[in-house]
Amino acid sequence: FIRSLSSSAALHAAIKHVTIIGGGLMGAGIAQVAASTGHSVVLVDTSEDILKKSAKGIESSLKRVAKKKFAEKPEDGEAFIQKILKNISTSTDAASVVQGTDLVVEAIVENLKVKQDLFGALDKAAPEHTIFASNTSSLPIADIASSTARLDRFGGLHFFNPVPMMKLVEVIKAPGTSQQTFDSLLEFSKALGKHPVSCKDTPGFIVNRLLVPYMLEAVRLHERGHGSKEDIDVAMKLGAGYPMGPFELLDYVGLDTSKFIIDGWHEKDPDNPLFAPSPLLNKLVAEGKLGKKTGEGFYKHK
Ligand code: NAI
Repeated sequence: FIRSLSSSAALHAAIKHVTIIGGGLMGAGIAQVAASTGHSVVLVDTSEDILKKSAKGIESSLKRVAKKKFAEKPEDGEAFIQKILKNISTSTDAASVVQGTDLVVEAIVENLKVKQDLFGALDKAAPEHTIFASNTSSLPIADIASSTARLDRFGGLHFFNPVPMMKLVEVIKAPGTSQQTFDSLLEFSKALGKHPVSCKDTPGFIVNRLLVPYMLEAVRLHERGHGSKEDIDVAMKLGAGYPMGPFELLDYVGLDTSKFIIDGWHEKDPDNPLFAPSPLLNKLVAEGKLGKKTGEGFYKHK
């Protein structure tokens, strides 16, 4: 008993109250999952209008879950939805809501300066024990954390889209992250019903570090005339068991997002051939063909 009490997990109270900053694609998904697993959640964005849209999105997503889960008893489904929605409140003023929070998860625009400004301000407003985490895909956690005086209580929680469906969370230990903070983030990920993996603060962590160069090599293979997009996609689905081929995945992720990630890595490590920019990808982005979201990328979408 004494030994278990002295473990860092026992000393560190479980994360119950979570503030999610950014109610877009990722933030709304994280809020939904945290609320569904019994956490009290405050979702923050820049305007009431955006927050209304986020709440609507969460509600429709929960309706889909309830429809499957309570196919026999729809009235139980409604109670299920209302119980989860009760765990979520919204705000446009991050500094005023972090007072009672155990964890801040940031999922705002992928811009270092904007993230640093946000965390710099929250550092002054949040209690001592509050842990800060970023959901960034491509920026070093240490660079974001540098705007705060809580490097030991700062780490990465990298979720995957769509958050309610995807089981993985990459938990990132930056050089300053304490073991206690890291353990709390691993525990929190498990409490969300996710499977955490431990990552170092390196470009792309694990998944994107492998996936982005792979997708770009698929583009180069096609540019060399060694395979059609369709054949490459079919090959990777049927031969490697991937649910999507690389061109389908690029269209799904967004060509602009993929370009942004590779450009950032290339700038920091220009000699690494795995991070070389792709002329075809750049051309499509310049033409506004960004993938599914604009109706056309490598493929045309309805
Ligand atoms: P998004 O554009 O859908 O949502 C971002 C939201 O943040 C918007 O609603 C915006 O109004 C809000 N926002 C911007 N600045 C803000 C501020 N200062 N305070 C409060 N709210 C602010 O973006 P998305 O896709 O959800 O990405 C968010 C973060 O998650 C980025 O860092 C991205 O790299 C990361 N990420 C994205 C994934 C994806 O598949 N889209 C996957 C994993 C991580």
